[in-house]
Amino acid sequence: MSADFSAYRRLFLDYTEGFRHVPDSAPLRLKVEHTFRVMEHAELVVDSLADDAREKQWRQNATACRAACLAALFHDCGRFPQFERYRTFMDAKSVNHALLSFQTMRDGGFLSEEEPHVRGLAQCAVLLHNRHILPGMLSPEARFVTDVVRDSDKLDIFRIMVGYLENALPERDAVLLHVKDEPDAWTPRVAEDVLAGRVASYGDLRFVNDFRLLLGAWMLELRFAATRKALAESGLMEVVLAGLPDEPLLRPAKDRLYALLDKCRKEGR
Ligand SMILES: [Fe+2]
Repeated sequence: MSADFSAYRRLFLDYTEGFRHVPDSAPLRLKVEHTFRVMEHAELVVDSLADDAREKQWRQNATACRAACLAALFHDCGRFPQFERYRTFMDAKSVNHALLSFQTMRDGGFLSEEEPHVRGLAQCAVLLHNRHILPGMLSPEARFVTDVVRDSDKLDIFRIMVGYLENALPERDAVLLHVKDEPDAWTPRVAEDVLAGRVASYGDLRFVNDFRLLLGAWMLELRFAATRKALAESGLMEVVLAGLPDEPLLRPAKDRLYALLDKCRKEGR
């Protein structure tokens, strides 16, 4: 069983209350919901490590497991000052929200009562949670904590993105980075990334279908069996992939993604 983090949940909620004065703050309420879902998933990952053949040794590392859950809770705390100052969640048009989350946690003393090692691991994971590629020199422990947060974050982003892909929600255009909505178009380079087992760069995305390919390629990066299982059981990836056009040139990349999804599904059984 995970530790009791209810005092930290309250601390987070009290912190978010400080942003109630921000006009048009509905997006911030969604960030509170996202945060709690990410933390819930991080706790599930930590609780299921014993059943994960490749990861079970981490179950014995209470420091790393604790740091992972705390990092999941605070990973997006910088979104609140980001939105207050810039009225956007687009890092490219404002600030790196992971860096701002790290600074907010550190300056606010959110983890001041934790052991320095727990605090250091959690802060490192928060700082790195949105990196396209992680630094190679991370310790296995720091990498573990960071990966719990990244897996948990991705799982909830799948849910959020499916909502935007499938519905004409407000801000859809901004969330999808203003890519073109052409049902039959995709970028060959993004499909090549899928075949090469790489996750495309956001800068290469030009069409909504590129987003579908990118989200599909995220399956390659999910480290924990519990995340792959939750994704397979959610049915979200089927929705993402079903929107891709039925074009022979796209078939190899689609086949690769459906094979990955099948692997996730089998792991869940
Ligand atoms: Fe984030």
